[in-house]
Amino acid sequence: MPLDIVVGAQWGDEGKGRMVDLLAAEADFVARYGGGDNAGHTVTVGDQIFKLHLIPSGVIQPNTVGVLGNGMLVNPSTLMAEMAQLREAGIDLPPKRLRISHAAHLITPAHVALDAAQEGARGAEQIGTTKRGIGPAYVAKAARRGLRVEMMLNPEDFADAVETRVEEANKHLTQLYGADALDPKTVATEFMDYARQLKPYIVDASQLLTDALNSGKRVLAEGAQGTLLDLDHGTYPYVTSSSPTAAGALLGLGIGIRPANRIVGVTKAFQTRVGEGAFPTELSGKVAKHLRGTGANPWDEFGTTTGRPRRVGWIDLVLLRYACRQNTLTEVALTKLDILSGIDPLKICIAYRIGDETFTELPLGPADLSQFEPVYEELPGWDVDVTAARHWDDLPPQAQKYVQRIEDAAGMPVRWISVGPERDQVIIRD
Ligand code: IMP
Repeated sequence: MPLDIVVGAQWGDEGKGRMVDLLAAEADFVARYGGGDNAGHTVTVGDQIFKLHLIPSGVIQPNTVGVLGNGMLVNPSTLMAEMAQLREAGIDLPPKRLRISHAAHLITPAHVALDAAQEGARGAEQIGTTKRGIGPAYVAKAARRGLRVEMMLNPEDFADAVETRVEEANKHLTQLYGADALDPKTVATEFMDYARQLKPYIVDASQLLTDALNSGKRVLAEGAQGTLLDLDHGTYPYVTSSSPTAAGALLGLGIGIRPANRIVGVTKAFQTRVGEGAFPTELSGKVAKHLRGTGANPWDEFGTTTGRPRRVGWIDLVLLRYACRQNTLTEVALTKLDILSGIDPLKICIAYRIGDETFTELPLGPADLSQFEPVYEELPGWDVDVTAARHWDDLPPQAQKYVQRIEDAAGMPVRWISVGPERDQVIIRD
């Protein structure tokens, strides 16, 4: 019963999309288990660049079935647009190639409007959300006022439910935030149309995946966001509203613990973050510019979903160790090693300090990182281009040492090293 889980080991944007694409070549099902279109997964295949927000990146591999799990939030407008975009690129997704859990929740324009209004009202305490309605839709789910995908199967009741929820949101929008109200009837009509189109895709995904696992099929769980954005285990309150950690895959797909096999943590060779919140190894200046890029290349550090420039810094091994523990990772995939070429020396954060006290583990989790000063170790950089490396021996000794230092700190193997955005620009180690 092999279930492999791919999780982000940092603050999201680790390059999970390209790792999922690689691992999906051997999977039968690729399932997203949490979040919504706040995610942005980029996969480069030849001259085609796919930027996916909702549909699992694994569907680019032709023999997979994509699944949107019950832990997800589905904005049907984004979903339809993404399906159209893939169709244009030659990837058609009929219901036999894409399934949506009946128990996933829907995002409406009311959630999106509330997200923007609430962020505005937070003033200096903004979270820096993607403004995709994620927080308000998960709040509605927890308050038991959400719109579940299965409601679309009963059109009359569904239209009423959408209207009522939009009317409720309008009270908050206008009375609490002074924002414009939405027209409930227009939203209901729009959602009735989505219901008609999406009906054939709706299944009990938990049953589908459990049956698949029981019959020896391979399921790949595709994480979105990252460990440090986890609602419980991340840098609260600067987190998302779902559970991107490995345990979230089981809950967000409706499968038990037993099938879990490999748990792959994806980390960049440096650190990035979008949105607010403490970032101990954050850099500004020349090295930051080098790491971020100008935005001219698709792989430069600008958000896939919002286009915001990402904050960048040295790799933080205290946080990587934390991610290894939180997710019980079995192995690590290291991405964007090529970007470090030309930086000398390189720094890695091996511990934190407050005054005279040094910490190699987080005493109380990562919620209050602002109190720590990073303790760095310096390693020699390398000047050669590594984008053509396909084997460990092709890497310069300094790059090998850098990877080994990460392995030592994580206490587990770095199994994959990506050296460029293309499918084949990866070193796979035994
Ligand atoms: P929300 O998920 O839109 O509510 O945003 C909450 C926080 O998570 C913000 O700091 C976002 O920038 C961050 N975030 C959400 N999704 C992603 C992602 O896919 N990559 C990186 N950061 C994300």
